[in-house]
Amino acid sequence: MDTFVVQGGNPLVGTIRVSGAKNSALPCMAAAILTEEPITLENIPQVRDISTERRLLQSMGAEIELGEGAALGRTTICCRNLSDPVAKYEIVKTMRASSLVLGPLIARTGMARVAMPGGCAIGGRPIDLHLKGLEQMGATITQDHGYIEARVNPQVGRLHGAELVFDKITVTGTEDLLMAAVLADGETVMENCAREPEVVDLAALLVTMGANIEGAGTATIRVSGVNKLRGARYRINPDRIEAGTFLIAGAITGGDLIVSHCNTSHLGAVITKLREAGARVDILGPDTVRVRNHGKLIAADISTEEYPGFPTDMQAQYMALATQAEGTSLVRENIFENRFMHVQELVRMGAGIKVDGKTATVIGPARLSAAAVMCSDLRASASLVLAALVAEGETIIDRVYHMDRGYEQIDEKLRGVGAQIQRLGNLFPPRAA
Ligand code: EPZ
Repeated sequence: MDTFVVQGGNPLVGTIRVSGAKNSALPCMAAAILTEEPITLENIPQVRDISTERRLLQSMGAEIELGEGAALGRTTICCRNLSDPVAKYEIVKTMRASSLVLGPLIARTGMARVAMPGGCAIGGRPIDLHLKGLEQMGATITQDHGYIEARVNPQVGRLHGAELVFDKITVTGTEDLLMAAVLADGETVMENCAREPEVVDLAALLVTMGANIEGAGTATIRVSGVNKLRGARYRINPDRIEAGTFLIAGAITGGDLIVSHCNTSHLGAVITKLREAGARVDILGPDTVRVRNHGKLIAADISTEEYPGFPTDMQAQYMALATQAEGTSLVRENIFENRFMHVQELVRMGAGIKVDGKTATVIGPARLSAAAVMCSDLRASASLVLAALVAEGETIIDRVYHMDRGYEQIDEKLRGVGAQIQRLGNLFPPRAA
């Protein structure tokens, strides 16, 4: 298991490049199931969750070709022969987003068998809203031996359009049912949808494949089902959470960082909050933003919301920054019921944080000192690396495999702008032939 050793104290200076969005790549790769023709996706990040998604699709019969060298981020997926349309527990247990194959599988083949995703470090994360929507579209859902089986009525042979209203805003729920609706018979109207840029990215790919979709990015999405979808080539969005993490890295270290190859229009809530906390943030163009902080950081509260509100996937990173801000910051987590696993690790480094239900009270500035800490989930890992960048001494961060799930070569990228961070242990075993 890899470990990071981080020597704190260096301001980050220079340009750091953002990779493609993990949370766009996952649904876009699953969308390949919807057609017999090849899908070529560009800007796919080389992170562990993407390797898992590849394994999942290959286990069902997909053929996958990866770009090399300059085309490293290119992935071509062909699901002509879905010989074994089952999402097996061995794979699903390592990545909940595997449940994103449910909608496309039943839409394409009339049947889907997917292992129930178990619990997760950040919360229960049920998929009841995915299943409820599929039932309204005519699927029969059964559950046995830890698997969900969804089947269309054999007489009808496909899903039908429906009026769906989500009880709660769900990102992958919106994506899963969107993929189910594009091949359904008739019109589907989905209300109270997630408006995240990743939903818009998936919808744009589906339209390139021949789907009829209106309203992606708003609370109401309309889909007119078609009989068949074709192959496509599509470049996915940059990762707004990775970009936000780098902006915080520049601010917390008192550096001068240019974050490039991002989409600044997706960073509104994070940039606003950083400015409120006293950092100077300049948008240099549609894909480049500069963060500088040569003064004191000041306390500012956050409350996580669905997009375009402050993202829950930036909460832990922001908390690390709040430990260095003058005053008391309230950090409220409204999306997941157990997303404060990083608090005790930050407290071990000397942070002043108290948790009461959904709210953490952060008192700053705290003088952080190096310690041995452990990652518990993807974004918690990022907050520990950020804290270690300003802590006195050498911090040992264990279980960084959590971070590798969603950050591409994070240690190399940070070293490129002056961070003293070393990875102990070998990262990715050589790729299976
Ligand atoms: C997506 O997860 C992201 N993952 C998460 O990013 C992100 O934290 C989350 O959206 C919120 O922005 C991917 O896109 C692969 P939800 P998702 O369904 O879709 C409840 C990261 O760090 N809910 O929007 O699983 C759920 O429990 C990851 O990259 C139900 O009750 O999240 C939660 O409280 C972590 N029933 C809330 O809704 C359902 O059927 C929002 O969850 C579905 C969700």
